[in-house]
Amino acid sequence: MSKKTLKVAVIGGGSSYTPELVEGFIRAFGEMPVRELWLADIGEGRQKLQIVGELAQRMVAKAGVPIKVNMTLNRREAIAGADFVTTQLRVGMLAARRRDEHIPLSHGVIGQETTGPGGMFKALRTVPVILDICRDIEELAPAAWLLNFSNPAGIVTEAVLKHSNVKTIGLCNLPIGFRKHLAKAFGVHESGVLPEFAGINHLHWVTAAYVNGEDKLRELIDGGKGQAAFAPALDWDADFLKSLGAIPAPYLRYYYMTDTMLGEQLEQLKTNGTRADVVGRVEAELYELYKDVNLDEKPKQLEQRGGAYYSEAAVKLMHSLYADKRDIQTLNVKNGGIISFLPEDACIEANCVVTAQGPIPLSLQRIPRHIKGLLHAVKACESLTIEAAVSGDRGIALQALVHHPLIPDMNTAKALLDEMLEANKAYLPNFFKR
Ligand code: G6P
Repeated sequence: MSKKTLKVAVIGGGSSYTPELVEGFIRAFGEMPVRELWLADIGEGRQKLQIVGELAQRMVAKAGVPIKVNMTLNRREAIAGADFVTTQLRVGMLAARRRDEHIPLSHGVIGQETTGPGGMFKALRTVPVILDICRDIEELAPAAWLLNFSNPAGIVTEAVLKHSNVKTIGLCNLPIGFRKHLAKAFGVHESGVLPEFAGINHLHWVTAAYVNGEDKLRELIDGGKGQAAFAPALDWDADFLKSLGAIPAPYLRYYYMTDTMLGEQLEQLKTNGTRADVVGRVEAELYELYKDVNLDEKPKQLEQRGGAYYSEAAVKLMHSLYADKRDIQTLNVKNGGIISFLPEDACIEANCVVTAQGPIPLSLQRIPRHIKGLLHAVKACESLTIEAAVSGDRGIALQALVHHPLIPDMNTAKALLDEMLEANKAYLPNFFKR
């Protein structure tokens, strides 16, 4: 096994999630020696970067591992010669997420940062920035892997696959979380379970759940052993779940239970605000804690964010690429021919064997025929969104929006598009070219 030491660049390094990642590198240091960790951020994130970077330095010092944590506002310095670049950025910061959630709600549409109009606008803002970062990687670290966590991870990864030469993989914490729950429910080690995921990021269905080689999916769905421990994933109408014959990702609630979810969101808007409002409060608390010079580990309060296990997913992936482990991980990669009815160049979320040369997606054993239409529709909107992000073409953006299953009609799509384009003007130069 290679013992080359590694340089990792984290773009969006001032994120409140960074201590998770640092903890992951510390734990894995014996097997994967990340010696240089570069946290890069933009000018507006200077203060956050300083706070998080200093905490990272204290964590590393406490652990006694020789990881040098560098902070920079010059991302090119971070990227140069890196082995891995991770992107965990939010263009327009939390204020933009807030608009992605609030504006759709004011039109009676789901307001969510990764799906529907919110997800689309997050993609429109993020894709050009990520592609810019890719230009730097192509120039300064052409052999590096870009591991993207920036949401909407599937769309952003597809944009990189289509518009750059950078080797990239998209990551989400949902599959690894499911795997952990499955292992816990059946009381086995994680290495003994293998769920199969069919679909795309935040729109997948678990179509098999192997536990020590035996498929337990039907047992889970029908209420047998393991079900109680698995409750949140199975919290669907029982008849619906049985006839579906698969376990949908939590984000599918926005599609299958749109009215209920919209009602909940509108209720929350009146009390706590949207998730961006909640996250704003959590982040304020986190950065206050991070400032404490006596804090030298990841605080428990970080668990209030939704990204549980994300560092584990990231570190596992880097480790397998580094050490050619050839284990199976669920990743966002180019479809090829895995899902036959989606474009070959689309990004899908699938089980892959991770080799030093990259992930090799595994063929699916089963795709329930009833999920094909929805999957196809959402993927079509995602691909149109990328085209719109790159070209700044309002017509294409309108088509992406109007064909999205969460948009009730054309007039709503038009009104939403106008309002959201205007609200995001500062971050959408492609749409406001003279
Ligand atoms: C889940 C999703 C992530 C998302 C996160 C949001 O974990 O899989 O893609 O980023 O939730 O968490 P937040 O705390 O920002 O709402």
